[in-house]
Amino acid sequence: MHINSTILSGKGMLNEINSLVKNRHHVLFLTDKNIINLADVSKLIKNIQDIAPVFTLIDDIPPEPSHHDVTALLTKMKISNADLVIGIGGGSVLDVAKLVSVLCVKEADITLEQLLNGDKPTKRCTSLLIPTTAGTGSEATPNAILAIPEKETKQGIISPVMLPDYVCLVPELTTSMPKHIAASTGIDALCHLIECFTATISNPVGDNYALIGMQKLFNSLERSTRDKSDIEAKLTMLWASYYGGAAIAHAGTHLVHAMSYPLGGKYHIPHGIANAILLVPCMAFIRDAVVDKFAQAYDLLPDAVLTLTAEEKSYALVEYFKQLVQRLELPSKLQELNIDPKDLPYLVEGALEVKRLMNNVPKKVSKDDVLAMYQSLL
Ligand SMILES: NC(=O)c1ccc[n+]([C@@H]2O[C@H](COP(=O)([O-])OP(=O)(O)OC[C@H]3O[C@@H](n4cnc5c(N)ncnc54)[C@H](O)[C@@H]3O)[C@@H](O)[C@H]2O)c1
Ligand SMILES: [Fe+2]
Repeated sequence: MHINSTILSGKGMLNEINSLVKNRHHVLFLTDKNIINLADVSKLIKNIQDIAPVFTLIDDIPPEPSHHDVTALLTKMKISNADLVIGIGGGSVLDVAKLVSVLCVKEADITLEQLLNGDKPTKRCTSLLIPTTAGTGSEATPNAILAIPEKETKQGIISPVMLPDYVCLVPELTTSMPKHIAASTGIDALCHLIECFTATISNPVGDNYALIGMQKLFNSLERSTRDKSDIEAKLTMLWASYYGGAAIAHAGTHLVHAMSYPLGGKYHIPHGIANAILLVPCMAFIRDAVVDKFAQAYDLLPDAVLTLTAEEKSYALVEYFKQLVQRLELPSKLQELNIDPKDLPYLVEGALEVKRLMNNVPKKVSKDDVLAMYQSLL
């Protein structure tokens, strides 16, 4: 898969966006209630408003959006001729911006319903994605994830046409993240990297992205959550997240993400939190099938003991993940999220239904295995 986005990265890069707006007729700007209040974002909006002849602002994209949210948005906007879509926010905003870029292009050839049914778009308007979490890596993936409340799960809409023309990785925008969001979204990036690296459909291109991303993440996740003002760590995390997205574009996630879908879909647990809870049991489960890959990942840890055997390194990596989730003070038990143990069979069914991801698990996984993993979290 080609990722052709032009990337602007570094402190102060928001100032470069003016040049992308010149000569556009109608700029559609999507964000959420928290991001709109950031000083850098208000300034950016003011600048764009001064340049673009027509400017539409949507500032209420909800977290973990559902297909109903997107339908309501499209009805409210009644727009079919935007020529630049800008999405600035976490994965929730970026995913909606990607969908809007194919649904609101002039003479759009597809509807949301058709996208949900698996039909593919062929065109989009010019798009610019600016992540404020690090993160989903949505700016580098062909995916947009929507909650499907009727089925109490989530669905991925996938097309490389949704990949953006421009990406802006601006570290100062991520400094306002509360610690728990920086930590949980960072674990989401880690899940993308380690799952893609160990997926049945892994390949050298995706592996390359995953290894570079993990090295960056191991060096910056804790620093960037501990010290908001560590701009270098914040930028490194944005790149780690971007590489996670690029790894998804070339391979795919598996067990953690499949098992987190029903937690998000039924209980509305934020994506990164659901993944943080599931990371350790899922990695412990697949460990024996991916010893060499885990050993390679372990070697990237800043304090790796390189003389260990591959088997020892694979155990040590799982232990590192366990300690990391604890040090980041993220929940590690389902009860902390008010999940009723009676619902476990439902969660198991939901996870097994995510066949797109379950097919990527590098080890045979049964219904009982999935149940045992959820049970280990009670
Ligand atoms: N497209 C993909 O490839 C992909 C991959 C993983 C997850 N996702 C999806 O992305 C969504 C989750 O995205 P997310 O984890 O980035 O969280 P999010 O976008 O839902 O944001 C979580 C919360 O953090 C706030 N926030 C974000 N950035 C902030 C900042 N800089 N300062 C202060 N507050 C900030 C938001 O306003 C929101 O309240 C889910 O719907 C998930 O399914 C998509
Ligand atoms: Fe994810």
